Amino acid sequence: MRLARLFGGVWLVFTSCCETACLRFCCVRAVCLKSVFTVRASSSMKRGKKAEEAATAEGENDTGSAPAKKGKSAKEPEAPILYDDPPDKMTSKDGREANTKITSWNVDGLRAWVKKNGLDWVREENPDILCLQETKCAEKDLPANITSMPEYPHKYWASSNEKGGYSGVAMLCKTEPLNVTYGIGKEEHDKEGRVITAEFPNFYLVTAYVPNSSKGLVRLDYRKTWDEDFKMYLSELDIQKPVVLCGDLNVAHQEIDLKNPKGNKKNAGFTPEEREGFSQLLEAGFVDSFRELYPEQTYAYTFWTYMMNSRAKNVGWRLDYFLLSSSLVPGLCDSKIRNKAMGSDHCPITLHIAV
Ligand SMILES: *[C@@H]1O[C@H](CO)[C@@H](O)[C@H](O)[C@H]1NC(C)=O
Ligand SMILES: *[C@@H]1O[C@H](CO)[C@@H](O)[C@H](O)[C@H]1NC(C)=O
Ligand SMILES: *[C@@H]1O[C@H](CO)[C@@H](O)[C@H](O)[C@H]1NC(C)=O
Ligand SMILES: *[C@@H]1O[C@H](CO)[C@@H](O)[C@H](O)[C@H]1NC(C)=O
Repeated sequence: MRLARLFGGVWLVFTSCCETACLRFCCVRAVCLKSVFTVRASSSMKRGKKAEEAATAEGENDTGSAPAKKGKSAKEPEAPILYDDPPDKMTSKDGREANTKITSWNVDGLRAWVKKNGLDWVREENPDILCLQETKCAEKDLPANITSMPEYPHKYWASSNEKGGYSGVAMLCKTEPLNVTYGIGKEEHDKEGRVITAEFPNFYLVTAYVPNSSKGLVRLDYRKTWDEDFKMYLSELDIQKPVVLCGDLNVAHQEIDLKNPKGNKKNAGFTPEEREGFSQLLEAGFVDSFRELYPEQTYAYTFWTYMMNSRAKNVGWRLDYFLLSSSLVPGLCDSKIRNKAMGSDHCPITLHIAV
């Protein structure tokens, strides 16, 4: 019995060893054959691969959902998640029809933007008031295509005193404002042509190009002074009449307002200091009209750097805003992000309001 058991054991060990060896052998052969085959196949299929990938991308309809995983490569580009501006709402919560349409656009160089047919888009959008930022153009160099635009008989320009191709804002109106002023009443800020204020019967409209803290945050200290002074300026206006503020405020307020919040906490536009400056405006009684209407909306951006194909991938920032005095919020109808309009590294935004 003992012997039999021992023999049986050895046999078992032997067979299992053999089996393993056999399997190993088979496996090795299979792997070898497979890899040989794969190498041959891949070299003969190389030409067809690109066409196949393009076809797959075209055939897919999943821009709104999680990126699809296909193939084995870890570097497969994520399908971009795009934002679709929903149809315009023309009625406010309190049931009034919108009677004022304002568009704001950082054109990143007015002359280039005109050449890229920015004015064709403006004519189609047809706002009552058009505000532009980063015009980068002295008044004497403005192209006739815009200075002679008959749709907007009342036009106001601010540009940097010292540097012609720097900063600058503009406001074009169909009806004449009661009063127009430039800057915020502080020489250190006002030489850069960043603010125009127009007084209308029921509100002030302020358009602003807020200073960028710049690479390496070299202007962050200046920006903090600006934020403080600008808030004071707006609060003083707000005492007299409600305020609509629009423009490039050069900050993404919350993580939801940019694609890569984690990687940008130390970069201009998403530092804790700049975000706090924006929070302070809200605490002073101003309301972010877009977030008021769309508190959970992700992937809604207004700026994409020209680098790295960011716009096609919707790797962007929400830097352009309509802020409203709280007394105007009941008349808010819609706050639009026109992200299909091309011509700048920012897209235009439009406000519909009953005032
Ligand atoms: C894919 O998109 C096309 C065009 O946008 C549309 O006509 C079609 O119905 C979509 N297909 C699916 C499966 O969603
Ligand atoms: C600007 O105006 C000029 C002169 O009238 C015209 O030739 C040109 O086509 C216009 N450009 C655009 C983009 O409208
Ligand atoms: C325009 O606004 C400025 C600054 O508030 C003020 O000094 C001036 O009197 C106003 N002009 C008119 C005509 O209201
Ligand atoms: C600020 O300016 C830098 C260049 O100095 C630019 O790269 C960056 O995109 C700008 N940031 C924002 C938030 O506009």
